[in-house]
Parts: sequence; structure tokens; C-alpha cells
Amino acid sequence: MSTITPHGGTLINRFEPNIELDSITKEIELDSFALSDLELIGIGAFSPLTGFLGSEDYQSVVNEMRLKDGTVWSIPITLPVTPEVADELSIGEPVKLTFEGEVYGTIGVSEIYEPNKQVEAQNVYQTTDLNHPGVKKLLDRPSIYVAGPITLMKRVERGRFQSYHLDPKDTRATFDDLGWKRVVGFQTRNPVHRAHEYIQKTALEIVDGLFLNPLVGDTKSDDIPADVRMESYEVLLEKYYPKDRVFLAVFPAAMRYAGPREAVFHALVRKNYGCTHFIVGRDHAGVGDYYGTYDAQLIFNHFTEDELGITPLFFEHSFYCKACGNMASTKTCPHGKEDHMILSGTKVREMLSNGITPPPEFSRKEVVEVLIKGMQKQVHA
Ligand code: ADX
Repeated sequence: MSTITPHGGTLINRFEPNIELDSITKEIELDSFALSDLELIGIGAFSPLTGFLGSEDYQSVVNEMRLKDGTVWSIPITLPVTPEVADELSIGEPVKLTFEGEVYGTIGVSEIYEPNKQVEAQNVYQTTDLNHPGVKKLLDRPSIYVAGPITLMKRVERGRFQSYHLDPKDTRATFDDLGWKRVVGFQTRNPVHRAHEYIQKTALEIVDGLFLNPLVGDTKSDDIPADVRMESYEVLLEKYYPKDRVFLAVFPAAMRYAGPREAVFHALVRKNYGCTHFIVGRDHAGVGDYYGTYDAQLIFNHFTEDELGITPLFFEHSFYCKACGNMASTKTCPHGKEDHMILSGTKVREMLSNGITPPPEFSRKEVVEVLIKGMQKQVHA
């Protein structure tokens, strides 16, 4: 048995492939965002959620970062549909959930409501600016929310990286088999650069294992594609990580770019996957200048340790320092900026797409080779 209790006390399992569909006539076509939410609810990654949020839970999450029963939950998980689709639905009715014509699950409709998306944007993303990719996505999606418990009937197929798709029950069993009692989770939507490696390994010094859990659902178009990243993680782990101390599996969620609120959400979900600790570095899940560098750490002050049930490990901005001759952070290095090797994500992407290798102090050469190859394939595709 894994030692850490899932969020809310029980690991939810709503996977049931053999549901009789003949009597269900109505359907809702999901976007890829909702499909990933459906799957993550179904496999228990979003425990204690058993479906898409009803209006009371939704209001409570948007305003208080809690479900209506008080359980901490910082991101509303909702199913948006158009008014035309909503008009066809009735309360109490089961509805098929389809994607590209195939049925992936069902929802028992318990409520249909119209959210105030301006309030949702302001509270969850701290802005209503359409240049924010999470806000844009929120406002682009349809205007009515359908709530109710779901059943997941079919799993999404993943191709070459299928073996990295493990459910929370599987990662829990794996950590248990490995004898890991203290497991630190690491969220990323990027390649693992030296700064990421530094904070992961610093955390690993005080726990039993590292769960490298890259997000591979929808991301904004200029993020590095998941398949390229996966290859970069493989080469990095092969050469620079102790095999018996790190475990790689993906997090098939959509990225919200909600900064602080998403950091809390990311931590709770990793608890469901079996982690006891979770890394939050600088500007976690941030984008542009919407959040302060350490806002995603400060937000954890709103909750008690017991309510969270997972211990966040906070890291300062990390970099290679030429004067120190090693990786360091603002907490451990006395030197000035001129000695620090800091490159922005945009700059790195620009270098990679022009075939320019970022310095080895920023990124391992094996990782860079995979990224340049991947970027060039994209350009020529
Ligand atoms: S995120 O959107 O998934 O958070 P990213 O993949 O860049 O983006 O970050 C993964 C984790 O590493 C986050 O916890 C982030 O705060 C942390 N992180 C990224 N770069 C640094 C850095 N240079 N110093 C400290 N922490 C960092």
C-alpha cells in the first residue's frame, strides 16, 4: 500500500468500458481539453472529483479555492457546451461524451448553468486579458457548463509514448514496489534544462525517489511539442540520473497557465499519483509577466499542511554561476548577474530553431541535440 492518502481520502476510479449505450441518444462532442479532463477524472488523477463541477462547487472553487465541502481545489474543472447543445439536454439524463465521433464516456447530467467567465478569468488567472493563453482558451470555449458524474469508457491512444501513460493506481503501486516512501513530483512543460535538473536533484538528496511527470496535454503552440520533449527526457535520464531513483511517466492534462492556482492544483494531482513532496520553483505554470516570480509559492500559505496533504518544496531561481563554478540559486550564490547564465525560454527556442546550441551550462548537449533535431523537423513539416 502506498503511504500517502489520495486527495479527499479515496482514489476515484470511474473507468467502466462496458456500458450499455443503445438507450443513450444524446451526445456532447468534447474538445481535446475536455477529453483530457474526462480521462483524468476517470482514472482518479483529479480525486476527489467524480465528474464536471456543478455550480455550487464551481462558485466555491472560483471564489475560495475549495470545493463546497471545504476540500482544497484551485482550478475549476468544467464541461463547456454551446447554448444549442445545452437546449437539447435535460437534467437526470445520461449523455454520451464523444471525441472525433468516438464515444469516450458518459455523463449523468445533474445541472446546466451559465458561468460568469469574466469572474472566473479574474479569480483563476488574475487577469481578463485575452493575450493570456489560459484566459483566451477559457473565453474561446462555449458559454454554458454541463455538470454531473462521468464514466470513462475508452482510453485515449498515445502511440510511441504509450508506455509512459500510467494511472495513479499504477504509479502508486510502482513507488511501493520500489520501496519509495518519500517521493518528490516534478511538473514540467519544458525540456529539462540544467536549472530543472539542479532543483530535482537537490530535492532528491532528501527523499527516496523523483517522479518526473511532464505535462503532455494541450499546450500553447510555441511550447516545445511533447514528443520531442519525451525524447529529450529519455536521453537525459539515460546519461545523468540514477536509474533506481527516478521514474518517468506523463501527466496527460491540458496546461492552464494559471500560475499560482495551477501550482496548487499540480501539487494535489501529484499527491493522487502517490507523491509526498512536490517541487515549486520560480514562476511555476506562469506565462509572460502575469505572476510574480514567487507567487506560486506564496499561495500555499492559504492552506494548512493537513489540508494539502503533500509537502511543497520551494526553490529559488536557479542558474549556473561562472564565479561559483556550479549550479546555484539566489539563495546560495553571492555573485552578481554578470556571472549568471540565464536565458529566457523565448531566447532558447529562438536559438534552437536557428540550429544554435545553447551553452552546456544552460542545457546538456544530449538534450540540445534532440531539441534541435525536433525543431528542425517541425520547420520542415
Ligand atoms: S511549468 O509551467 O511546468 O511550471 P517549467 O517546465 O519551466 O514550467 O517549470 C517546471 C518547474 O521548474 C516549475 O516548478 C518551475 O517553477 C521550476 N523552474 C523552472 N525554471 C526554473 C529556474 N531557473 N529556477 C528555479 N525553478 C525553476
